[in-house]
Amino acid sequence: MIILGIETSCDETAAAIVRDGRETLSNIVASQDDLHSKYGGVVPELASRRHVEVIDEIVSRAVKGIGMSFGEIDLIAVTQGPGLSGSLIIGVSFAQALSLRYNIPVVGVNHLEGHLMSALIDKPSIKYPVMGLIVSGGHTILVKMDDFNHYTVVGRTMDDAAGEAFDKVAMMMGLGYPGGPLVSKLAKKGNPHAIKFPRGMLRNRNFDFSFSGLKTAVLYKLKSETHPIPENRQADIAASFEESVVDVLVKKTVRAAQNYGVPAITIGGGVARNQLLRQRFEQAGKKHGLQVLLPEPQLCTDNAVMIAALGYHHSSQGSLSTQKSIEVKPNMPLSQIN
Ligand code: KG4
Ligand code: ZN
Repeated sequence: MIILGIETSCDETAAAIVRDGRETLSNIVASQDDLHSKYGGVVPELASRRHVEVIDEIVSRAVKGIGMSFGEIDLIAVTQGPGLSGSLIIGVSFAQALSLRYNIPVVGVNHLEGHLMSALIDKPSIKYPVMGLIVSGGHTILVKMDDFNHYTVVGRTMDDAAGEAFDKVAMMMGLGYPGGPLVSKLAKKGNPHAIKFPRGMLRNRNFDFSFSGLKTAVLYKLKSETHPIPENRQADIAASFEESVVDVLVKKTVRAAQNYGVPAITIGGGVARNQLLRQRFEQAGKKHGLQVLLPEPQLCTDNAVMIAALGYHHSSQGSLSTQKSIEVKPNMPLSQIN
C-alpha cells in the first residue's frame, strides 16, 4: 500500500511517500525559518501564504522525485489538527483536491499522535504499554499508551511548552528562531552547572510540567548581568537553562513510567531532536531498566512521514475511516480512551 502524507500544521510544508506504513520512499520538508526568524516566532498569516506558494512543488517532488505517479497512490493521509487553522486548511484542501482528481481515499490524522508514534511506526512488534512524551513547540504532554490508539494523558504543561521555552529564551538572548537548535549549540560551549535555575514542578508528585518560571528566571539572570554579556557567560546561561529543561523532562517521564509500571519510554516532537535530552533518556533507561525508543532526528521535527505512517496504521486497523470532506480542527485533542 502506497501512502502519500501531507503536513502543513505550522511552519513546515511537508510531503512523504511511505510504503505499508513502515518504509519511507520519500520525505520532503520545506522549512519556513527564513520567513519567521526575524519575528522570533511563527507569523500565522505568512505561514499559510507560504504553504500555498510551495505545496504543489513539495508534493510533486515527494511523488515524482521517486519516479512515481499520482495514480499509484492508494491513500492520502493529511494532518487535520491541531495547528494553525490557516496552515491546516492549505494541506487539507490540497489533499482533498488530489483525492477528487485521482479518486484516492483520504484520511485526516492527528499531528500529536504523529509525534507520539514517530519512533514506533517502523517497528513491527512494539510491546505496549509505553510511556510517551510529546515535546514540541506548542505541546508538552505525557501519555500512557496501552496500545495503538489507546491513550491516556497523564500529564501536560500548565503554561509554556518545552519548545516554546527554548524559542523564548533564544529570543531573549538574541539568537533567532527556531530557538531549540540555537540555544543547544551555544549550550555546548557552556557549563550546565554554572547557574542553578528552577526545576518547574519537579517536587510536585503529579506528572504535569511548568516552564514559565524557568523562562522568567532566565530573563532576570540576563538582566542582572553586565552588558554586553561575554559569550562564555551566555553559553553558561544557555547550558544551565537546557540542563533544567532536560532534567525535569527526563525525571518526570521516568517517574511516570515507574508509577504506572510501564517498561518502555518513547519521545517525539521537535525538542526530541535535542542531543542532551536523547543522551539523558538513554542513560536513565539503562539506570532504571527501561527500554527507550527514540525517533530518528529528522522524524522529530514536523514531517509527513509520521503522518503517512499513522494514516496507514489507522486505516489498516479500521480505526479511522476515509472521508469525503475533512474538517480542519485547530484545537484537536489527542484521542483518549479515558
Ligand atoms: O514538532 P515541531 O517541529 O513543531 C511543533 O509541532 O511545534 O517542534 C518545533 C519546536 C521548536 O520550539 C524548536 O525550537 C524545537 O522544537 N526544537 C528543539 C530542537 N530542535 C527543534 N528544541 C531543543 N533542541 C533542539 N535541538
Ligand atoms: Zn509538531
